[in-house]
Amino acid sequence: PTGLLTDTRGRPLRDLRISVTDRCNFRCNYCMPKEVFDKDYAYLPHNALLSFEEITRLARLFMAHGVRKIRLTGGEPLLRKNVEELVAQLAQLRTIDGTPPDLTLTTNGSLLARKARALREAGLSRVTVSLDGLDDAVFRRMNDVDFPVEDVLAGIDAARAAGLSNIKVNMVVKRGTNDHEILPMARHFRGTGITLRFIEYMDVGATNGWRMDEVLPSAELLARLRAELPLVPLAAASPGETAARWGYADASGRHDPALGEVGLISSVTHAFCGDCNRARLSTEGRLYLCLFANQGYDLRSLLRTGATDDAIASAIAPIWQGRTDRYSEMRSSLPADASRGARRVEMSYIGG
Ligand code: GTP
Ligand code: 5AD
Ligand code: SF4
Ligand code: SF4
Repeated sequence: PTGLLTDTRGRPLRDLRISVTDRCNFRCNYCMPKEVFDKDYAYLPHNALLSFEEITRLARLFMAHGVRKIRLTGGEPLLRKNVEELVAQLAQLRTIDGTPPDLTLTTNGSLLARKARALREAGLSRVTVSLDGLDDAVFRRMNDVDFPVEDVLAGIDAARAAGLSNIKVNMVVKRGTNDHEILPMARHFRGTGITLRFIEYMDVGATNGWRMDEVLPSAELLARLRAELPLVPLAAASPGETAARWGYADASGRHDPALGEVGLISSVTHAFCGDCNRARLSTEGRLYLCLFANQGYDLRSLLRTGATDDAIASAIAPIWQGRTDRYSEMRSSLPADASRGARRVEMSYIGG
């Protein structure tokens, strides 16, 4: 039972996002607020986590179903012990066309200076680093553990030095908290070959106290950027892409590849569910069909009760084929308490 799968809206399964730990050394208020994720918070016990072998086995079966891109997430994925060994195992897998997967990870960058070289040597293709501002005081306040910005910048430098190409930086923008960092961030990364992406603050999970008035709509963000830095729209690089791409323009108004581009991820004001091809595997092996799903499908029990590859692949197929999820498209028409996410899973559990 392998080959291409499509869901009820004709969307293929292309991208598998695997959370390798529900822990993080940061306490970004929009993701793991300190008041909730305190010293008494019950993280998953070690035996609940999928092992590297279990993850690789599932990834192989997902790739037989058409997955081409694998992203490791968390929590903070570099906190998972020896994660480079998992990268090495995943790098050996092949898509249905016989090519290696596009293998990447999303990290807060705090351990990147130490780990970049080992990750590259293990076969990681690229990396995305979360960074919410350049001003040290703003950044320390947002990570809420007093982590200095220069250490993340050093992590980004180490990733480049290690030969990781196509580095992206993700900035979650909260109006009134870090929106004054938009232009400094844009100027800093313009012309460096690193793509900065601005993410609208989302109502993911149930603990971050999300409010619409703290979202800075991408249209407004773009206007602020364009008032200072000329930008032209670029075509999507791949179907189902999260970010709308804008290229820095030269004096004649044409995109200058040497200046690079920015991305706008507008999950709140401009949903991109229409071609969403992403599946998410939680740290304990539950399959989620949407970032905003209430429940997942337990694959770990199949792995741990001796199911064959065929049986697991056959279990995955109808789950994807029955998929109807399009939360961001429906957000505005849902009752207010639903959009506050009473039982929704946390981002740190399911991965970004
Ligand atoms: P690239 O291949 O590098 O373009 O990766 P990506 O954009 O798929 O991944 P990344 O983890 O960098 O995604 C950036 C952010 O976009 C995430 O941290 C989320 O905040 C948001 N995001 C990613 N996928 C989805 C999605 O399916 N739905 C929603 N609503 N937001 C998403
Ligand atoms: N809204 C938008 N993005 C978020 N992230 C975490 N929580 C949120 C949220 N509430 C982003 C992080 C990181 C990725 C893992 O998800 O900044 O880039
Ligand atoms: Fe950690 Fe990333 Fe969540 Fe911040 S956004 S708390 S760095 S997992
Ligand atoms: Fe995909 Fe759900 Fe995000 Fe829509 S809200 S893009 S369906 S993950």
